[in-house]
Amino acid sequence: MVTEGLKGKDYISTQDWSKEELEELLRFASELKDKKKKGIPHRYCQDKTIFLLFFDKSTRTRNAFEAGITQLGGHAHYIDVQTSQIAHGENAKDTGIILSSYGHAIAIRHDLVPGEGNAYMREIARWAEVPVINLQCDIDHPTQTIADLMTIRERFGTNLRGLRMVVSWAYTPSYAKPLSVPQGLLLLMPRFGLDLVVAHPKEFKLMPEVIEIAKQNARENNVNIEFTDNMKDAFAGADIVYPKSWGVLELFDKPQEALALAEKYKEWRCDEGMMKLAREHAIYMHCLPADRGNEVTDEVIDGAQSVVYQEAENRLHTAKAIMALTM
Ligand code: CP
Repeated sequence: MVTEGLKGKDYISTQDWSKEELEELLRFASELKDKKKKGIPHRYCQDKTIFLLFFDKSTRTRNAFEAGITQLGGHAHYIDVQTSQIAHGENAKDTGIILSSYGHAIAIRHDLVPGEGNAYMREIARWAEVPVINLQCDIDHPTQTIADLMTIRERFGTNLRGLRMVVSWAYTPSYAKPLSVPQGLLLLMPRFGLDLVVAHPKEFKLMPEVIEIAKQNARENNVNIEFTDNMKDAFAGADIVYPKSWGVLELFDKPQEALALAEKYKEWRCDEGMMKLAREHAIYMHCLPADRGNEVTDEVIDGAQSVVYQEAENRLHTAKAIMALTM
């Protein structure tokens, strides 16, 4: 049974949805997970089309949505922005109106330029008559963080009060990754009872306006958010650790400078020594792709505390729930 109350609603940030709406999304994702495992058909989006606009690369997000809509009885059109008229400058208004006249939802990844992606999605949503889904922007990655929350609840239950989650920067020499995963975790997790510790070297700060909203969420839900520039302090006594790389807010147009700064912090890696600082039952999380050997050692990501494949699988079930509820 799909509730009709969320039909047509955009999913651009978890912050735009009430806790009750997010609870319904999580409940429905679990139902869909169960139905898929039992082979029970669940064609809630029969004959419906979703457009997937990608300004950036993807493995999990693209395929969770493509496989997901197929399982729901619908169809996805993958649009590589570089081979569409968007690359020639067609604006958000025209793109939004036209695609929404062809189908039933528009989903967008536009994550590499601070100040652009979220604004672009909201402009599409202003003109589109169908729901707009954020597949990762400069501010939030709400289809990732809801799968993370599902994974945490599968391990620890629905009452997360008193548990300490670490969102930590980690070293990579590869490329400047968006801030949207750590920021999305900051926005969402305090609303569901987790205490957060945010750790990063001083140059790798998050957007101040996001931190303000996260602090407000924490106050409203009687949980704590702490900030530190010491990864070991952050890991001490943690129940959940989520160490990953992100870029320097002011240097997304100067990637070499950002990577040079990261070189100062090579020791920010999640290895077995770091995991020993956390509690024995602690879980290791990462949205993937992880930079093995830099952000995390093989022993940790392949070890007993890692839940990364469960997280990745839950991308499918939550993506299906978002589509079935909103389309
Ligand atoms: N975690 C995540 O968004 O993965 P992709 O970049 O592969 O979509």
